[in-house]
Amino acid sequence: MRLLQNLFLIALLTTVISCSKKEPETATIIEPHRPQFHFSPPAKWMNDPNGMVYYNGEYHLFYQHYPDSTMWGPMHWGHAVSKDLIHWEHLPIALYPDSLGYIFSGSAVVDANNTAGFQSGNEKPLVAIFTYDKQGYETQAIAFSNDKGHTWTKYENNPVIKNPGEKDFRDPKVFWHVESEHWIMSLAVANRIQFFRSKNLKDWELTGEFGREHGNHGGVWECPDLFQLPVTGTTETRWVLLVSINPGSPNGGSGTQYFIGNFDGKTFTSEHGPSTERFIDYGRDNYAGVTWGNAPDGRTIFLGWMSNWNYAQVVPTETWRSAMTLPRDLSLHNTSAGIRLVSTPSKEVEQLRTERKDITVDQPFIHTGLAEVKVEFDLNETAAKDFGIELFNSKNENIRIGYDRESNWFYIDRTNPGKKEFSTDFVGIQYAPRFSDSHILTLHIFVDVASVELFADGGVSCMTAIFFPTEDFTQLKIYGDGEVKLLSTEAYELKSIW
Ligand code: FRU
Repeated sequence: MRLLQNLFLIALLTTVISCSKKEPETATIIEPHRPQFHFSPPAKWMNDPNGMVYYNGEYHLFYQHYPDSTMWGPMHWGHAVSKDLIHWEHLPIALYPDSLGYIFSGSAVVDANNTAGFQSGNEKPLVAIFTYDKQGYETQAIAFSNDKGHTWTKYENNPVIKNPGEKDFRDPKVFWHVESEHWIMSLAVANRIQFFRSKNLKDWELTGEFGREHGNHGGVWECPDLFQLPVTGTTETRWVLLVSINPGSPNGGSGTQYFIGNFDGKTFTSEHGPSTERFIDYGRDNYAGVTWGNAPDGRTIFLGWMSNWNYAQVVPTETWRSAMTLPRDLSLHNTSAGIRLVSTPSKEVEQLRTERKDITVDQPFIHTGLAEVKVEFDLNETAAKDFGIELFNSKNENIRIGYDRESNWFYIDRTNPGKKEFSTDFVGIQYAPRFSDSHILTLHIFVDVASVELFADGGVSCMTAIFFPTEDFTQLKIYGDGEVKLLSTEAYELKSIW
């Protein structure tokens, strides 16, 4: 029945797509592996989130998009808006490639004081800052919108930053720096981040660089983001620099590291030693993530691309490829291991909950395939050395999200996830360090039909992993190789956004 329903919907969707080429779809989508509460493009290829900016009650999400294929190709900026970060309205493509190149990743700002002079009506102009890539020759360019970000015009004198002779020179992320009264751009340049500043978004001056000798250099540096956060519970603040790297992340392929330190208006300095490596998410499937500009209430809201360049182009989905992570609020916390960047699911995610269900060690949780579960284990009373939460189906496929006491690592075990032949890099166990030394250990997970996100110890250790079972994982149980003692459990079936 479900199969027939799916086939019918695929046929319906294919008809809609072929009738309205390049226009966004709004169809109900129940295809195999189609995320039910994560953002995914209506059709075809998607990678990085781009141009995330909040204006006039709308969260804009642009994304790397190739509308003619389910593989990467000439990049466009796809576009969607949301009022609540969960339900998305798909809009027409915002930026098309042209003679200067493909439209690579970048950001967008609200130019509240019309510093670039693009304003033509009563709305504040929105300005997008992006990379043009012409067969590997990369420059930075801008475009503007005077209708609340809905349609875009490229600036006539692009590019605004020419290529200085660097092969990898991309992914500008811009914000207004109040103290120095400048726009600041972080730009990934091969193995480091360069900082530029501008008064008008058109004329840019290079002011500093960071990272040749810091952090992980297993791959090229991409998609930086720089923002300031309070250290929770203190009067201190720190600057955080996100840097995506591909390949070279701890579990293979793509990943996003972060540095904590200071920004003086010109450059960033890290407060960790050069060899320190920290990742915002240790799972294999959270890449190129950045934060929303102009987010309300001073929030720092992050979204990542839920895939990995090792296999993104071959995952077994038919009409589209990839999804984004859940939106996550970022904060800094003092832990027993020092200050750490913490990710927690944004509060808007709670609207997906339906009634609260029970889960115990003896009683598995049977659900529709969409679930949120939070379990607190008491390490003082737990004899098991290896324990966690298992997702499984009637085909003996499973995913284990657990903790190994001896190594003090969290893990996601994806050795038996269902479909896996598409890439040898897909299967296996991925690990994340535990930073907390509390005897209360929390596993908080969100299960969609093709992904799980783990926020362990309140989001100090995070992992994201996608999967493609041959039948949805509608069952979930707590396991251990000995006795486990639970302090509390919370379980919800979640609603689909379609
Ligand atoms: C990251 C990335 C960016 C680039 C874009 C191209 O995934 O490689 O550096 O701008 O994708 O699609």
